[in-house]
Amino acid sequence: MINRTRRLRKTENIRRLVRENKLTTDDLIFPLFIEEGENIETEIKSMPGIKRFSLDKISTELDEVTSLNIPAVLLFGIPSRKDDVGTETWNDDGIVQQAIRFIKKNYPKLYVITDVCFCEYTSHGHCGILNDNNDVDNDATLINLYRQAISHAKAGADMLAPSGMIDGSIIKMREALDNTGYYDLPIMGYSVKYSSAFYGPFRDAADSTPTFGDRKTYQMDPANRDEAMREAAFDDVEGADILMVKPALSYLDIVRELKNNYDRPIACYNVSGEYAMIKAAGEKGWIDEEKVMMESLLSMKRAGADIIITYFAKEVAKILKRD
Ligand code: PBG
Repeated sequence: MINRTRRLRKTENIRRLVRENKLTTDDLIFPLFIEEGENIETEIKSMPGIKRFSLDKISTELDEVTSLNIPAVLLFGIPSRKDDVGTETWNDDGIVQQAIRFIKKNYPKLYVITDVCFCEYTSHGHCGILNDNNDVDNDATLINLYRQAISHAKAGADMLAPSGMIDGSIIKMREALDNTGYYDLPIMGYSVKYSSAFYGPFRDAADSTPTFGDRKTYQMDPANRDEAMREAAFDDVEGADILMVKPALSYLDIVRELKNNYDRPIACYNVSGEYAMIKAAGEKGWIDEEKVMMESLLSMKRAGADIIITYFAKEVAKILKRD
């Protein structure tokens, strides 16, 4: 036998030398749920360790995120007022706009990314304006995306991330930002976002469950891979600075496909259901929670993700600091 792959596995030191991928705190984005109101610090039942905070209660969380040197947060707003179209999304004094200003003032180095969508803000819970058939009206929604983008930019966001799977989002938001002088503000597209049951816990967290129907007319069919390339291609030509795949674990083939085909940073979103499953099995003592968490995030790096959005960010950063 000439080839023996075990030769390079003999000790930890040689394994370190030939290790191909490494998870670092530099890779992580931590999602934050900010609720309008006061004195709110509510644990999300299906996401142990993750809370919804009102702004007056969020400093401890932000102190921890910054002291762990996590580079960025992704903001989700939970407004106190919802309506048909999600008017609050472009209110300059809306909850996300307030949160951006608060964070940039008190934690200026922390990079603030905003989720740009409507589902937490519409009374029906869909990601845009509805037409007569109760389906999301693509082009009418684009007009409001334009407004929302400018409002987030004015509040001081560092990056915008449209998550509604509305066709033309990137080009419309690019136009909005360029027309108002924010040509330097990057956009991370939720480029390949599947209609996934793995979002369940998030919808509790963000109050964004559709009151009727599902999101299959705008989010992608989990069966499709060629279409993922088309979605990514559109976002690429429309000028998305970062391409994202969501969810992560069941879609690592798509992450690799994008990595091989696009010369842009690739992000993946380790979603709420992926988090909840590991937490639940860990609580039951059925898996080694810490090891499974680290292994699954490493698999995203191996698949080709440059950036991982994850509810595990704080735990991972603590472990990486310790080891
Ligand atoms: C809003 C949005 C969702 C998630 C991120 N942005 C929910 C959805 O599309 O239903 C899911 C995040 C997660 O599950 O962690 N459009």
